[in-house]
Amino acid sequence: MSYRNVSKEALVGSLALGVVFAAGYFLGKKKLFRMSISKSHCGGKDNPLMQYVLNHSLREHPVLKNLRLRTMEDSWNIMMVACEQAQFMANLAKLIQAKKALEIGVYTGYNTLSMALALPEDGVVVACDISEEYTNIGKPFWKEAGVEHKIDLHIQPALKTLDDLLSSGQAETFDFVFIDADKVNYDNYYERSLLLLRKGGIIAVDNVLWGGRVLNPSPSDADTVAIDKLNKKLHRDIRVTLSMLTVGDGLTLAVKL
Ligand SMILES: C[S@@+](CC[C@H](N)C(=O)[O-])C[C@H]1O[C@@H](n2cnc3c(N)ncnc32)[C@H](O)[C@@H]1O
Ligand SMILES: *[C@@H]1O[C@H](CO)[C@@H](O)[C@H](O)[C@H]1NC(C)=O
Repeated sequence: MSYRNVSKEALVGSLALGVVFAAGYFLGKKKLFRMSISKSHCGGKDNPLMQYVLNHSLREHPVLKNLRLRTMEDSWNIMMVACEQAQFMANLAKLIQAKKALEIGVYTGYNTLSMALALPEDGVVVACDISEEYTNIGKPFWKEAGVEHKIDLHIQPALKTLDDLLSSGQAETFDFVFIDADKVNYDNYYERSLLLLRKGGIIAVDNVLWGGRVLNPSPSDADTVAIDKLNKKLHRDIRVTLSMLTVGDGLTLAVKL
């Protein structure tokens, strides 16, 4: 989810933008508004330096771009991963010669597709979500990009899929995991992912800054509490090496020792 740099104001701002989008669509100006919103999913639309970074580094596969534009038509598009973050994770996967990846939280499958494109022909992305509605948006694009055979989608609670993978003997076989589903289960996803990962494999945890709310977690806000708790735990977790990056809404990389 990319609630990057997000104050409540910004969130309200994007909701307002959504309303403007709807209005613009209605008035037949959809292209204009679509463009301004999609930029927000490639980071820093109001930040010229960030725009420079994107202008000089983003290499979005044409089908990925079409999936992004399609995703921008969905009312939950704020959940989509940031494009530059997806590209970064695809590069990381290539760097460690990943063949087997796990996506915990697919939504319309932007990152799932990005990862499938990065993996070799015999690679696989095990993709976990509970929503047919969201994942059905992505499927035609996976097919169009010619990588649907690399995507193994499981529609059920992700914990169940991870437990199934473990009980079917797939511990220590995954190279890369992206944790990006419901926040209250983050620690459960992390512990199971660590079992599923081979040594030298990478767990990437999304939204670790949660729009800045981790600075002052309200005890009644279960999502923020869960994220902050996992952040504190990872800081002293000697089973991994660690980086917390300020890309997107905060991305922690934990490399299994
Ligand atoms: C932030 S979105 C994922 C974004 C995605 N990684 C991308 O590349 O755009 C979170 C997703 O997690 C899914 N989700 C929520 N609870 C879940 C659960 N218990 N098990 C599996 N998926 C879940 C939601 O349906 C939603 O599609
Ligand atoms: C980035 O590219 C857009 C579109 O081509 C252009 O309008 C904008 O000026 C560029 N910004 C920077 C900082 O390079």
